[in-house]
Amino acid sequence: MATILITGGSGLIGNALTKLFVERKFDVIILSRNNNKEINGAKTALWDIEKQKIDEDAIRQADYIIHLAGANVGDKRWTKKRKKEIVDSRTKSSALIVKALKEIPNKVKVVVSASATGWYEETPLSNQTDIRRTETEPANKDFLGETCRLWEESIDPITGMNIRLVKLRTGIVLSNEGGAFPEFKKPLRFGIAAVLGNGKQIIPWIHIDDLCRIYLEAITNESLHGVYNAVAPRPVDNKTFVTSLAKKIKGKFFIPFYVPSFMLKIILGEMSIEVLKSVNVSAEKIKSTGFQFLYPTIDAAFEQLILNHD
Ligand SMILES: NC(=O)c1ccc[n+]([C@@H]2O[C@H](COP(=O)([O-])OP(=O)(O)OC[C@H]3O[C@@H](n4cnc5c(N)ncnc54)[C@H](OP(=O)(O)O)[C@@H]3O)[C@@H](O)[C@H]2O)c1
Repeated sequence: MATILITGGSGLIGNALTKLFVERKFDVIILSRNNNKEINGAKTALWDIEKQKIDEDAIRQADYIIHLAGANVGDKRWTKKRKKEIVDSRTKSSALIVKALKEIPNKVKVVVSASATGWYEETPLSNQTDIRRTETEPANKDFLGETCRLWEESIDPITGMNIRLVKLRTGIVLSNEGGAFPEFKKPLRFGIAAVLGNGKQIIPWIHIDDLCRIYLEAITNESLHGVYNAVAPRPVDNKTFVTSLAKKIKGKFFIPFYVPSFMLKIILGEMSIEVLKSVNVSAEKIKSTGFQFLYPTIDAAFEQLILNHD
């Protein structure tokens, strides 16, 4: 049985991946800062990123590594301290994986690392449907662009170690279990469809099940190398996203409300850039590998998520 080590496997994506890999009869080890004993049928191993210490047995046992660990980007305001934590938690954890793979005898064949569509520069609103960001474009110069660049660079030494490396620039993950989707639904409890800013900004999104299937593909399909955008092929603008969701949940009984950009800036601070930014990201490269999305449209994704919510 193959063993898969998932860093940050206790989080939103890690939980879903653990369930999928356990179902597929992989042995899963979650690498965590806390001793959680057993999560979803996976064992937990410990690491201390600051002290650059890692459970050596976990590295020896692993056939594959999925690297998800990192301080949550949307949880807290981006103070100077939080920004440092967001970057360090990713780059120092990557450095520890690289060091461990150099120093500890192992049989790791593939490392798949998370990255984010925050890599990309905004798409101009005038021709946003024509321009789609592809994997060859340079990183944006803002905070998330820089974070993604440093994050991806920190895991790149893996390629010199005869280990296949795949990096997944992930869009906003839609899941009932956490992240952005439950936040989008909250105002609908009061019958309000909260459109952010002018609502024209394009959202690069992906259904959690498709994302997990891309991770599985990255592990099992040896032809995958380097960077892939992990986004659904049909992105939508914020207004379409919010009103389609409102129609699915409330039928005709909702009122669209435009939350002005200045209010978002007051509430979220610098993080407001991310909810107001328009990025149209291409899914062509992952599609060209033969990967087929279960939820290519926002309607299909909402249908599944709403149907499967208790
Ligand atoms: N969810 C999305 O929409 C989305 C979109 C694009 C990219 N991504 C990226 O994909 C990865 C996984 O996302 P997720 O939504 O599953 O994240 P998550 O729910 O926030 O989980 C991330 C995990 O990382 C570990 N972690 C948290 N703070 C840390 C710190 N300061 N130092 C080291 N480890 C830390 C935690 O594991 P322990 O507490 O067990 O150590 C946590 O469970 C993240 O790197 C995220 O940026 C997510």
